[in-house]
Amino acid sequence: MALIFVPRETEPGESRVAATPETVKGYTKLGLQVAVESGAGLASGFRDADYEAAGARIGGSLGEADLVLMVRTPQPGAIAGMKRGAVLASGLVPNGQAEAIVALRDAGVTSFGMELIPRITRAQKMDVLSSQATCAGYQAVLLAAASLPRFFPLLMTAAGTIKPAKVFILGAGVAGLQAISTARRLGAVVEANDVRPAVKEQVESLGAKFVDTGTPPDAETSGGYAKEATTEYLDKQRQILTEHVAEADVVITTALIPGRPAPRIVTDAMVQGMRPGSVIVDLAAPNGGNVEGTVPGEVVDRHGVKILGETNLPALCAADASRMWARNVLGFAELLVNEGAIAPHWDDEIVKACCVTRDGEVVHEGARTAVGGGN
Ligand code: NAI
Repeated sequence: MALIFVPRETEPGESRVAATPETVKGYTKLGLQVAVESGAGLASGFRDADYEAAGARIGGSLGEADLVLMVRTPQPGAIAGMKRGAVLASGLVPNGQAEAIVALRDAGVTSFGMELIPRITRAQKMDVLSSQATCAGYQAVLLAAASLPRFFPLLMTAAGTIKPAKVFILGAGVAGLQAISTARRLGAVVEANDVRPAVKEQVESLGAKFVDTGTPPDAETSGGYAKEATTEYLDKQRQILTEHVAEADVVITTALIPGRPAPRIVTDAMVQGMRPGSVIVDLAAPNGGNVEGTVPGEVVDRHGVKILGETNLPALCAADASRMWARNVLGFAELLVNEGAIAPHWDDEIVKACCVTRDGEVVHEGARTAVGGGN
C-alpha cells in the first residue's frame, strides 16, 4: 500500500499544514496509508491524536514516502533524502525556487506545484490560489481593523455618533472580493476599483461602490485575468484614485498580473495625502507591492500612515487556511492515485499543466527558464 507523508512545515512563520484529520480519512478511502510527522498540525490546531483517530500513523520520514504533501517546498537538503520516483505536491512555483527544482530533478522526484493547477471549472476544488486568496482577503481586513485607531462600524452612543470607517479596496479578484465582504460585515463604507469590466457588478452586489477608472484596451486574458496596463492607463488611474485613497481610513491593495511584477498604483504622494493613523495593507507585497514604500514582511510608517507588507496572510488563519488547502490537495490527489498506487494520470491536462519535474527532468516551461535550462 502506498504511503503518504505529511511533514512539519520548515519555512519560518509557516503555520499551515497540507493534510488535516478530515483529509486523512479521504486518503484512507483512496486506499493509501498516511504518516504524519509529530506536531505537524499543532500550529493549525490539529493534534497528533486527531490524526491518529482519523487513521494516520504518527511518525514517518521523507525517505520512505511515495507521496509527500506540503504547503511549502522542502529544503534542497531534505529533497535529496526522498525516494527516487516519489511524488511531491506542494506550493512549488518556478520563480524563486530554482534550487529546490534542481534538487527535485536530481533526486528523481516527480513534483507538482499546487499553484500551477489551471483555473478551469473542473479544477475549482483544487484551486489553492482561490482558497488562500480568500483567507488573505479576510485576514487583511482584520489586520487593518486591529491597526486602525478607529471603529469600522457606525456607532450611536451616549458619547455621540461615531462615523463608520472608509475602506478602499484596489483590485477586486478573489482576495479583494473577500476583503470587501469582510469590511462590509464589520460595518465599514467600502469602495473598490479594478481594471476588469466584469468586476463592477460583483463589487456592487457585495454592497460596495465601484470606482470606475475605465477599462484599458485588451484588459483581460481569455482565462479572466488582468493583462498588464499601459503607463498611460496607470497614470490616468492614479489621477482618479488619488482622491479616493486620500478619503480612505484603510486601503487594501490586491492588484496582480500573473507572471509579472505587481502594478505600482499607490505612489508615495498618494500615501502622503492620507490622514495620519490610516492603514494600508499591501497584499501584493511578495510580488513587488502595489504601494510605493511597502517592505515585504514589515510594517512601515510613511507620513504617519502604516503600510503593512505581511507576506503570509493565510498563515494567520492557519486552521481554516489548512482545511481549505488540504481539501484542494485531496481533490488533486485523486488524479495521482490508481487502485491504491501512486500513478499520476498523465493524460489529464490538469496533471500535465502543474507538473514541474518528472523522471529526472524539469518539464514545466517556466521552471526550465527559472533553472536556466531555457525552453
Ligand atoms: P489576481 O490575483 O491575478 O489579481 C487580483 C485582481 O487585481 C484582479 O481582479 C485583477 O483584475 C486586478 N488588477 C490587476 N491590475 C490592476 C490594476 N492596475 N488596477 C486595479 N486592479 C488590477 O486575480 P485572482 O483574484 O486570482 O482572479 C481574478 C479572476 O480570475 C477572477 O475574478 C476570475 O475571473 C478568474 N478566476 C477563475 C477561476 C475559474 O475557476 N474559472 C477561479 C479563480 C479565478
